Amino acid sequence: MPSLNAMNILDEYTHIDRAQSAYYNTMMSEHSSETAAVEVYRSERPGYTGERPIALITGATSGIGAEFAAQLAARDCDLVLIGRRVAELADRARELEARFTPAVRALACDLALPECRDALVGEIRKLARLDWLVNNAGYGRGVAFTEDSYHEQRALLAVLLDAVTELTHAAAGQMRPGAQIVNVSSLAGFGVSRRSAVYCAAKAYVTSFSESLALELAPRGIGVLALLPGYTYSDFHRYDARARRNRGIVRWQTAAEVAREAMKAVERGRVICIPGRANRLLYLLAKLLPRRVVYRIMAGGEQGRVSNTTPDTSIDTTSIHTNRDAPRR
Ligand SMILES: NC(=O)c1ccc[n+]([C@@H]2O[C@H](COP(=O)([O-])OP(=O)(O)OC[C@H]3O[C@@H](n4cnc5c(N)ncnc54)[C@H](OP(=O)(O)O)[C@@H]3O)[C@@H](O)[C@H]2O)c1
Repeated sequence: MPSLNAMNILDEYTHIDRAQSAYYNTMMSEHSSETAAVEVYRSERPGYTGERPIALITGATSGIGAEFAAQLAARDCDLVLIGRRVAELADRARELEARFTPAVRALACDLALPECRDALVGEIRKLARLDWLVNNAGYGRGVAFTEDSYHEQRALLAVLLDAVTELTHAAAGQMRPGAQIVNVSSLAGFGVSRRSAVYCAAKAYVTSFSESLALELAPRGIGVLALLPGYTYSDFHRYDARARRNRGIVRWQTAAEVAREAMKAVERGRVICIPGRANRLLYLLAKLLPRRVVYRIMAGGEQGRVSNTTPDTSIDTTSIHTNRDAPRR
């Protein structure tokens, strides 16, 4: 089944990028844990009074989150943008403010840190209203679970899972009928990977959590969407040496396409959105094929069962970005 090797769409080997910004380190070291979410940009425009809808987007610095921010600004939402790359985040806020009319705020916040998540929950509780929560921040480690430090894997879980759960809990308490939560999951939640065990499991959690929450919040008129992208052009794959091109049934999408399809799915009241026809086909294959076939494909198609000796024949020539430069506080 050679074309099915292309199913490593479900195997996102990517790299942590916790700390590319020296600005972030400096900013964070200058602040106590009470101000763990540091405001790095605030427009002078009046906003956040409750007259316009308010949208909070995590991981708005780049990629899918930045596109959500633009599409929500175009719908006249005041924005609260979250990320860690201080300079890039402030640039993004400035750019959105120049293109659209609402007020924009940007908060530097490392969602891996409990004090940062607490500070953000505090910010959410102070908002006059909250109409959109987009839990989008995320990254992959691109390293096998047992070969990585537990500290790094724990940080990954904190961003992919704790942050989504904590922010959703705080936001749901603030939301009124008509509000919307979007949780950015991944097709990888249906897949398996030898180098992304925590990533795949966390995304499976995000999808399942969103589906149950959609049932729970429907009587209150609050929508919940799980967005499951496949390969998407963004900063997510910036350390990935593989060519970013379509192969077999794998089709890359732009972050704008992904966000646009998600917004349409929200309008239609959907609970799950898999953007892109090719991704929907991959999803069906992952669901319909016997699991042992999926394991074989993901292990490189060489052996009938997964074992320690199964060679990793997937296309992965990335190098590991270590936590050496991670924000120190
Ligand atoms: N690209 C794909 O192929 C793909 C496929 C399926 C699912 N996804 C999911 O889509 C979501 C968005 O990713 P993307 O593709 O748009 O990649 P991206 O361009 O790298 O965006 C990821 C965003 O998450 C933020 N982020 C990462 N770690 C963070 C932390 N500890 N605290 C706060 N913010 C953090 C980053 O901002 P800073 O760097 O400023 O912190 C950035 O804005 C992720 O949840 C990812 O798992 C992506």
